[in-house]
Amino acid sequence: MTDTLQDARSRELLAGASALLANLPERQGFGDATLVRLSAGSIDLGGGNPSVDVLPRDLYRDAAAAVTADADFPETLRYSASAGIPAFRAAIAAREGVDPGRVIVTDGGAHGLSLAVLGTLDPGDTIVVDDPVYPLFLRVLDLVGVHIEAIPVTAEGIDIDVLAARLRAGLRPKALFTVPTFQNPSGATLTAERAAALVDLAEQYGFTILSDDPYRQIAFPGTVVPDRPRLRDTDRVIAVNSFSKTLGPGLRLGWLTVPTALEAGFTKLRNRLDGQTSGVLQDLVGRMLADPRLDPAIAGAGTVYADKARVLTSALREQFGDRVELSDPTGGFFVWARLRGDVDFAKVFEAAQDLGVTYQRGEWFAAGAEQFRGFVRLSFAEPDVDSLREGVNRLAQAWRDEGGR
Ligand SMILES: Cc1ncc(COP(=O)(O)O)c(C=O)c1O
Repeated sequence: MTDTLQDARSRELLAGASALLANLPERQGFGDATLVRLSAGSIDLGGGNPSVDVLPRDLYRDAAAAVTADADFPETLRYSASAGIPAFRAAIAAREGVDPGRVIVTDGGAHGLSLAVLGTLDPGDTIVVDDPVYPLFLRVLDLVGVHIEAIPVTAEGIDIDVLAARLRAGLRPKALFTVPTFQNPSGATLTAERAAALVDLAEQYGFTILSDDPYRQIAFPGTVVPDRPRLRDTDRVIAVNSFSKTLGPGLRLGWLTVPTALEAGFTKLRNRLDGQTSGVLQDLVGRMLADPRLDPAIAGAGTVYADKARVLTSALREQFGDRVELSDPTGGFFVWARLRGDVDFAKVFEAAQDLGVTYQRGEWFAAGAEQFRGFVRLSFAEPDVDSLREGVNRLAQAWRDEGGR
């Protein structure tokens, strides 16, 4: 077929597709692969991958051997319950401190977010989100078509005072989305007091909190993630979580913690969408959760990430001096830094890619009016320390080349 015929054919097929599929917007900024140029020798400070060096590969090996050696292995190859295999739900529930009936197993965090969105929001509803926000959550919202209200994130998490004022002024959200621990991108952690105040607001104004917490276990040595019992125990929260940051995103496994009253609804939704998560994977990871080596391995990863974060922040301070503002991360994967200077930051990004480093631009995390001009999100999780230093050298060179001083 010629190009023209192919184009006509594509138009015809798109016209025959659902409005949802035909109208899904492209990813903008964050996640738009056309903006990223990686060539041999390029350093990627933009990604969300953990370091494969700290993932517990020996636990995978032993658990995989045990799965297949088990006399019940054929059972795992059969269809299983939509909410998840009971023993696996119970293992997650025990770690979460919730009733096993509240756990719905998912194929990872993004899947959990889409289930939570489909189970909570209708077209035209209003949702409040972190600002800066995890941008792929906004793309999940494309599934429904909702009105988005941005509330700033401070060092202590989403700003409850601003939210309360907006609610008093008439804002009526159906849901609120926040990443409460080592927030992506800012690294902020919601305090216990703020979490309690947030739940009070959810009660008063009748909205659901979507709490997306994949970085909670990536705490650096000495960092204590606040216990937030109100957030855990209330039936106003749907908690979304994932093994991606601790066991690897290629695993595709996570879970939701839903209010008891919504368990049946979410199970039906899961059943209608795709049935269930792989029973083999649930059995595998269930064995890893029971392995006493797992938690020390995750804590050990936190130590490695803490060292890498220090390398990255030191390099930034060395190269940019008082032209960089940042808070030292206490966990998670990212440094959220503001570069100062009378430069065109879009040009700095292109120049940096020419020099062989890529990262995420602050503008891509904006959910509202604040543009995050000059902000950058740099990941220290995957690159080795030499690449972290060299990546910052290249970024600083690009910034100077574009007129930064
Ligand atoms: C805040 C946040 N939520 C959800 C996800 C998606 O997790 P998953 O890889 O399990 O889909 C990520 C991954 O980067 C994330 O940063």
